[in-house]
Amino acid sequence: MKRYLALLIIFGLLFSCSVSFAQDLKPETHAKMEWFKDAKLGIFIHWGIYAVNGIDESWSFFNNYISHEDYLKQLDGFTAKKYDPEYWAEIIKFSGAQYSVITTRHHDGFALWDSKFGDLNAVKSSAAKRDVLTPFVKALRNNNLKVGLYYSLPDWSYADYTHHTRDINRYKISDEPKRWNKYLNYYQGQMGELMKKYNPDLWWFDGDWEHNAEEWEADKLRAMLLKHNPETILNSRLRGKGDYETPEQGPPVVRPVAPYWELCLTMNDSWGYQHNDKNYKTPQQVIDIFVDCVSKGGNLLLDIGPKADGTIPKEQVNVLKELGVWTNKHKEAIYGTEKGIPYDHYYGATALSKDKTILYVFVNGNANGQIALKGVTNKINRIWVVGEGTKLRHKVISKVYWSKYPGITYIDLPEQVLDKYCTVLAVLLDGPIDLYRERVGAIESN
Ligand code: GLC
Repeated sequence: MKRYLALLIIFGLLFSCSVSFAQDLKPETHAKMEWFKDAKLGIFIHWGIYAVNGIDESWSFFNNYISHEDYLKQLDGFTAKKYDPEYWAEIIKFSGAQYSVITTRHHDGFALWDSKFGDLNAVKSSAAKRDVLTPFVKALRNNNLKVGLYYSLPDWSYADYTHHTRDINRYKISDEPKRWNKYLNYYQGQMGELMKKYNPDLWWFDGDWEHNAEEWEADKLRAMLLKHNPETILNSRLRGKGDYETPEQGPPVVRPVAPYWELCLTMNDSWGYQHNDKNYKTPQQVIDIFVDCVSKGGNLLLDIGPKADGTIPKEQVNVLKELGVWTNKHKEAIYGTEKGIPYDHYYGATALSKDKTILYVFVNGNANGQIALKGVTNKINRIWVVGEGTKLRHKVISKVYWSKYPGITYIDLPEQVLDKYCTVLAVLLDGPIDLYRERVGAIESN
């Protein structure tokens, strides 16, 4: 009897686990994530008063490199004099990005829009004296780009926020709950403004590490945003209450397990504009990292940091343009594709069409005339160079009639079809890709 009871409990537990797992994977969550998963490329924008001196966004005063007072003096230099939001949207579009995420408010609390909550914003306290967010959101929509709003949960300038600098913690929530409540009303009030004014496709939270989910009222916030727009996407920096993971700076070496993820990456070593930082990644390196993300089933959110007058530094424009030429040529291998096949089958990056009948093979540099695919069981119907059109020959070697082992496919790659940055081949199969993954042992008979 006892044994039956134990079994019953075990089954009960297993059942409840599988039920809760199924609940985790709500089909509507996947539906709303579809555009995001297909988009592959977004442009991140860090624009704020820190561009005036060209210093670390918010962190420069938090880390005591500059006093808070002097940090705020940059407000007078934030002119947005040459700001051309239409051009911003156009160059973002040209890069091949499908969405953009802009810092509406960083940890320093400086808001780009005309907020009713407090005075620290572009309209009331900067030299620009105008709302610089609304025209950009409009320009994104005009260009058919999805709108993402970055919002820092902490505001280190706000007198009733807990943290101010690395050494100054103003108070503990348990000591002054009313004070904390004031902050909650303030930040949630701003979120409400952004939500109603811009109804973004995506929310990009940051700075959640300073408080736990309960303290931020993360559930309440999520509920508010989703009630207003059930389709809106939230990044995970809301104490894990979001929809996708955001690895930062380091392109994942091992493919993340999360179904949705986005690598955020600076073009040089800074998020915002820093005239001193000339350590730009080359277009080749950015494209390599982008290909890596695509082949691992994720997105790249590539950052630009415009100057205080609203111009985008020429090095950044150059990367966006070079990237744009490459993404435009290779769009069929990028947008809407799925993660590729294991490196056992090809020593490099690959991606698959949604129906898995086309394998996209990314070829870095000069492949020495041939590339090899291993263990692809399908018959290959055709191979062509993406964005260029040349059909390529292939030959299977090491295939014997008595074994299921499919052999090695060599594809000829003439030099004249090579792309300056990364050549992509489309390998059309006779059906969904079928990979030979058997571990081979000694042959017992033939
Ligand atoms: C970090 C930093 C912040 C930057 C962000 C971008 O969380 O605090 O300065 O904006 O990463 O991902």
